[in-house]
Amino acid sequence: MRELPTATDGGRPSLPVATDGGRPSLPAGVERRSFDGRERLATRGPTVYGEPSDGEWRLWDAGRSKLGAMLALGMDTGLAGGESVLYLGAASGTTVSHVADFSGPTYAVEFAPRPTRDLLGVAEDRQNLFPLLKDARKPATYAHVVESNLDVLVQDVATRGQAEVALRNRQFLADDGRLLVAIKARSEDVTADPSDVFESVLGELETGYEVLETERLDRFHEDHLGIVARPR
Ligand SMILES: C[S@@+](CC[C@H](N)C(=O)[O-])C[C@H]1O[C@@H](n2cnc3c(N)ncnc32)[C@H](O)[C@@H]1O
Repeated sequence: MRELPTATDGGRPSLPVATDGGRPSLPAGVERRSFDGRERLATRGPTVYGEPSDGEWRLWDAGRSKLGAMLALGMDTGLAGGESVLYLGAASGTTVSHVADFSGPTYAVEFAPRPTRDLLGVAEDRQNLFPLLKDARKPATYAHVVESNLDVLVQDVATRGQAEVALRNRQFLADDGRLLVAIKARSEDVTADPSDVFESVLGELETGYEVLETERLDRFHEDHLGIVARPR
């Protein structure tokens, strides 16, 4: 049986990386800065969701962003800054706006029309952000737009079959790319124990990816598991 971290302990050890006082380095373009006396993540860009700003820096609220939570919890995402990104489940652009602030070309897939309208507004301020009103379960419908050999696949889709979505979109990722996914247990099964759901999702994911690190995100997002993986 795999040893999954509990909601309170840390994830498994990750690969050796450059560290910043024991924590993995943040990508270039992401900093820990002081907001109201607390050290918080921040990126540089136009504000999007009413987040506080300090000059050109704006707070990246880990309570509203699973990827922000993964970085805030010290997971080794492998992000250096400047990567090409496919982001699945962009909603109205809260997290993907921060990703576009420190990345290269950023393709943002969302299948609900209402949030995608907001996402279009977010993209107007960001030349490298490309919103796509598409279903992440059907990558063939956007394969003609999204480049291949991408550095990073970020996934935050609140839908059943989250492992399957990651596997279907593996085709866009370079062989040495990274999958950064947040799994929402309740989207798979509202009644099951989240640990059992995560176990099952990881088992499926491992048919196409090597899992490098997992961490429960409960401090910021209840019953979510953050996963860093790379294609097999
Ligand atoms: C938790 S929200 C994402 C929040 C967003 N990642 C952020 O942090 O700003 C999940 C989103 O996934 C979208 N979604 C669910 N299934 C999807 C699918 N098959 N294709 C594209 N988007 C999907 C939902 O419409 C919703 O906007």
